[in-house]
Amino acid sequence: MILCFSATGNTKYCAEYIASRTHDTITSINSMMKDGVKSVNCEGAERLGIFAPVYDWDLAYAAAEFLGGVSFVNLPESCYVYGVFTCGSNAGRADENLREILSRKGITLGAAFAVSMPDNYVPMFRTESPERRAEHLAKADETLKELAEDIAEKRHVQKFTRKPSRLFTYLIKKFVVPSQRKVKGFTVNDDCVGCGLCERVCPMNIITLKDNRPVWTADKCACCLACLHRCPKQAINLGRSAKNGRYVNPNVKL
Ligand SMILES: Cc1cc2nc3c(=O)[nH]c(=O)nc-3n(C[C@H](O)[C@H](O)[C@H](O)COP(=O)(O)O)c2cc1C
Repeated sequence: MILCFSATGNTKYCAEYIASRTHDTITSINSMMKDGVKSVNCEGAERLGIFAPVYDWDLAYAAAEFLGGVSFVNLPESCYVYGVFTCGSNAGRADENLREILSRKGITLGAAFAVSMPDNYVPMFRTESPERRAEHLAKADETLKELAEDIAEKRHVQKFTRKPSRLFTYLIKKFVVPSQRKVKGFTVNDDCVGCGLCERVCPMNIITLKDNRPVWTADKCACCLACLHRCPKQAINLGRSAKNGRYVNPNVKL
């Protein structure tokens, strides 16, 4: 079985790629979060794959919160548990956070893999050119081909990017992450048609429509940017996103 958090489709693509080889089923963490699911039945699972993006050199906040709070019931002792982390270029210490979350539940993370995909952090960075994006996605397929073999064979391996220093990740966690959970930076322009997609895709359930416009109601943003990237009118912005473009993985249905 595969549990997957994805905002703009990269991680979902990886989950679908692996599932098509291992014949596992995929359950969306985003949907479970929206529905307030508190336990996952793992009865009979041969493999448990946790797929999530990397935010700030760490496991995506929303996924970390969900995984920390959920119970894995009926997980067979023999189950091979692995993590797949998508990132723009560096997956930081996301694997360590997942390992710690799972170990608190008595579960051992058997393998961890990083997959580089196009970066969706447009409040700061420009999206890749169409040519660069196509190359990046083709390279990700090569990585996934290798991972699929490891996962099918239940290999206990770590295939990760270079680790940043502990001081660096500590400083990011202390000074950058708290500001990313805040919602005051989001703006909505007059192109908004009040369709409510942003409200539906917010995994934290903190967007509501007021007078047909999204309003962010609590400073516990996942910073996944699903609302921003998936807005059909590109009406939502944060930081420099208006200049930096939009991204959704072209090979999945969101
Ligand atoms: C808030 C935020 C922080 C990010 N931090 C990192 C990072 O530290 N390192 C990195 O390589 N990519 C980073 N990224 C890029 C994403 O990890 C990457 O685009 C990921 O594949 C998106 O997954 P998704 O399409 O499944 O949502 C960040 C993206 C966001 C939204």
